[in-house]
Amino acid sequence: MILVTGATGTVGREVVTQLLAAGHPVRGMTRNPSQAKMDARVEVVKGDFAAPETLKKAVEGVERVFSLTFGPQTGTHERELARAAKKAGVRHIVKLGAMGGDGETRNTIRKWHDEGEQEIKGAGVAWTMLRPGRFMSNALQWRESISRQGKVFSNYGEGKLPSVHPRDIAAVAVRALTTHGHEGKTYHLTGPEALSIGDEVAILSNVLGRRIEYVPISDEAARKEMERAGMPPFLIDALLPFAAFVRSGKAAEVLPTVEEVTGRPALRFVDWAKEHAESFQ
Ligand SMILES: NC(=O)c1ccc[n+]([C@@H]2O[C@H](COP(=O)([O-])OP(=O)(O)OC[C@H]3O[C@@H](n4cnc5c(N)ncnc54)[C@H](OP(=O)(O)O)[C@@H]3O)[C@@H](O)[C@H]2O)c1
Repeated sequence: MILVTGATGTVGREVVTQLLAAGHPVRGMTRNPSQAKMDARVEVVKGDFAAPETLKKAVEGVERVFSLTFGPQTGTHERELARAAKKAGVRHIVKLGAMGGDGETRNTIRKWHDEGEQEIKGAGVAWTMLRPGRFMSNALQWRESISRQGKVFSNYGEGKLPSVHPRDIAAVAVRALTTHGHEGKTYHLTGPEALSIGDEVAILSNVLGRRIEYVPISDEAARKEMERAGMPPFLIDALLPFAAFVRSGKAAEVLPTVEEVTGRPALRFVDWAKEHAESFQ
């Protein structure tokens, strides 16, 4: 049995789908089983990283775990999960983290994930760390401004970055969970091409067959927009320095990891855009 946490989210749903397609038994964790809408083959378990006793139940009888959590409590969440997993006899934990180096403290999101990674590494269970860059699916956040104004606003300027398709992240996770040789490995994951937000907008515009304008904005304007969207202040403070990093041009490196692990080329932004065209109608 493989436990997938974050099973109702962007990456977790893909992990579940691909594990089922490969014939593996899956337990999917969610805080709200009645609203989870998971495949009937999934054994749904109610679990909350903020309520550690629920994690003990979630890992009972499980061999492998996909760990996905987020925020300032990431270290605590993954300590509780990894300890429960060790006690239950789990043999391997695959963690979804974020791009960046070991011990990186300047990038807040990387720092949270670094704490989670350290807790998992200290628990005495074999591990694999996945560190993806920006998800292509973040483009779904543009739906409102596209539909209302035909515009996309971003503080990433003209900086390029190789966004990664969530299905590719899931494909690497599934390889790590179900095949040998991934224990003790850290995989940095990107898409196959470095694009600016303006480039992605042009591709989306072409796929949708409608004019969409890219409008670069300041950090201050981006902060106001994120506040308006109800984003918590700790997340806004973590995201603004990342935008500065992208603008500096240092986020553009394309890595071959997806293809090396899965044996097929990483998916392109145009692939993602075609699959999600309906979401923008
Ligand atoms: N977006 C990016 O560009 C990007 C880039 C690199 C790394 N990442 C990393 O990707 C992760 C987010 O992945 P995602 O986009 O697939 O997630 P998502 O779509 O936002 O879904 C979040 C998932 O976490 C679950 N969850 C939330 N709070 C929980 C709690 N207290 N206990 C148990 N489960 C909880 C939710 O399940 P229920 O609501 O059903 O309980 C849901 O399945 C984060 O760790 C982030 O740092 C994101």
